[in-house]
Amino acid sequence: MATVGMRMLPPEAAHRAAIAGLKAGFGPGRPKADPPELKVRLGVSGLELPNPVGLAAGFDKDAEVFTPMLGYGFGFVECGTVTPLPQVGNAKPRLFRLTPDQAVINRMGFNNQGLDAFVRRLDARPKWGVVGANVGANKASEDWVADYVAGLKAVWRKCSYVTMNISSPNTPGLRGLQEGTALEDLLGATGEAAAALDAEMGRRPVFLKVAPDLDERAIGAICEAVKAARYLDGLIVSNTTIERPDDLVSAFKGEAGGFRVRR
Ligand SMILES: Cc1cc2nc3c(=O)[nH]c(=O)nc-3n(C[C@H](O)[C@H](O)[C@H](O)COP(=O)(O)O)c2cc1C
Repeated sequence: MATVGMRMLPPEAAHRAAIAGLKAGFGPGRPKADPPELKVRLGVSGLELPNPVGLAAGFDKDAEVFTPMLGYGFGFVECGTVTPLPQVGNAKPRLFRLTPDQAVINRMGFNNQGLDAFVRRLDARPKWGVVGANVGANKASEDWVADYVAGLKAVWRKCSYVTMNISSPNTPGLRGLQEGTALEDLLGATGEAAAALDAEMGRRPVFLKVAPDLDERAIGAICEAVKAARYLDGLIVSNTTIERPDDLVSAFKGEAGGFRVRR
């Protein structure tokens, strides 16, 4: 019933309504503990998850509803992407249901309320549950690497792990950070910052989130850079794709943005 009602709203309004409902308390409480055999460990530092099914970034962009979403039983909830400064994102409409294709396209453009509001809300993180913070860069920033360093510094004390998202197709140029010296510069500066934060406050797993639209050469270069990185637990593969299958039939199939098919 609820799903049918939500589908009568435009997609972004449905998302907003879902967040509002969860904030108003229409969500579950703490879930039953998972059976121990569902436990998994991830990354170099062995981040422990109670089960392997998590909620990826983009649903709880402003860290408003991580507690009820953990209540649904997710093994982790990744909040964000958050940028240092608040940002309105792209012009609406920017989220499209491709209903007959069971897919969505989004070009939200990192709409979010900024790091200050985000980290304040993380203060209310429950003692149980894995809450990740996905950090990004402001579109208008003159120094994207500095934005990622600022993100690490702000969220470190408040989250279970950090993801550096350099894979959004909706901030022009951002995915250039996945390449060559730009990636080395990013991993150099963030690795240094992470090592200092670790020394001060303890270990946090740090992940790098990449795009699926990479050729063999680019994938190889990323693997080399990641292996050489000073402080990185692993890769999150992947964000939405800019490619489109040939057999789409939806009216919105030509919209720009990241495509995500239901699996
Ligand atoms: C509407 C929408 C918004 C998203 N926003 C973000 C985001 O802000 N940051 C991010 O790293 N990924 C974002 N993503 C990508 C998802 O986190 C995820 O990587 C992608 O959907 C592929 O995983 P899935 O197949 O499990 O959905 C978004 C995806 C969708 C559909």
